[in-house]
Amino acid sequence: MSDHRFLRALRREPVDRTPVWIMRQAGRYLPEYRATRARAGSFVNLCKTPELACEVTLQPIARYALDAAILFSDILTIPDAMGLGLSVEEGTGPRLAKPVRTHADIAALTAPDPETDLRYVMDAVRLIRRELHDKVPLIGFAGSPWTLACYMIEGQGSASFARAKALALEDPATMHRLLDVVARSVAVYLAAQAAAGAQALMVFDTWGGLLAPDMFREFSLRYLTQIAQSSQSHNVAKSTPLILFSKGANAHLEALADTGCAALGLDWTISLGAARARVGQRVALQGNLDPAVLHASPTAIRTQVKQALADFGPHPGHVFNLGHGITPDVDPERVRVLIDAVHELSAPG
Ligand code: CP3
Repeated sequence: MSDHRFLRALRREPVDRTPVWIMRQAGRYLPEYRATRARAGSFVNLCKTPELACEVTLQPIARYALDAAILFSDILTIPDAMGLGLSVEEGTGPRLAKPVRTHADIAALTAPDPETDLRYVMDAVRLIRRELHDKVPLIGFAGSPWTLACYMIEGQGSASFARAKALALEDPATMHRLLDVVARSVAVYLAAQAAAGAQALMVFDTWGGLLAPDMFREFSLRYLTQIAQSSQSHNVAKSTPLILFSKGANAHLEALADTGCAALGLDWTISLGAARARVGQRVALQGNLDPAVLHASPTAIRTQVKQALADFGPHPGHVFNLGHGITPDVDPERVRVLIDAVHELSAPG
């Protein structure tokens, strides 16, 4: 299994074809996902029922020639396990019933124990590994401390996360206290997912790119580094490659590559060639087509795939993906065009 092309690419070893998976590959664009979600009653129930989480994780693997599965869950399982109360309504996105706003709220938080407080996630990982029969590797994941703190303070999505930024600026000590407990939670959560069977780990720093450079270093990068270092000091996690995806943070690629992670996820605002020139041989790269490409014709999709492969060039260390999650309005047949094009156009010629 460690020979699978996805894991080989993360180690920057030569591969027979460029491996590909898609962020949010188990999601609302698939009719079978919508059917299982309806049976579950809600998104949160779907996440909390290991059999159903396993079912939707495997749906895109059954349909397409994908090279990796990703655990079906959410980054907000940690705040939920901390007692903040997660719900996800159709159309409005995630909501936390009890956001943290004061020093006292934050001082009361403790790191969840993965095998008790987040047992349903660990059970899902074990079940998915069993049901995958080593067909493709399984990716586990968590949110970055900064991104989780944004939701924990705001209580919901936001264009600017102004409340979280205001706390960081007015009372940095309290913000660091929050980021510290979340970073410790994320580190043990990822290590537990690896121990339960996840073969690669990914950290989503979706809102890192909202921060000005000094704030990015202080409130995001510092904790991403802590997580990468802690995963290297953990028995199982040490041999499990870690992918960091800091969206909109291309200004910090070199620093992100120096955290000790195996790979960097990239959004579509930088070319793969330019990113590779900046990080060199330090890390593998994952990405980075604009998800909007999937609204274009099959011919245009293939042209974009060809361009991305050429941009990266004939080097080891590329995992093909979109630059962010697939959107619910995509035609599943266009996804097949993309995946098949990656394999066909990256075949040794
Ligand atoms: O990639 C996968 O297939 C695995 C599953 C996965 C989900 N969320 C399922 C999901 C992963 C890896 C995530 C991570 C996640 N969750 C992130 C980081 C990645 C990113 O997109 O930047 C963030 C910021 C969240 C928080 C979150 N959860 C949001 C913003 C939403 C609403 C999204 C929307 O499109 O409405 C969710 C809910 C969610 N998580 C859905 C899915 C499939 C849609 C829920 C539904 O079925 O109604």
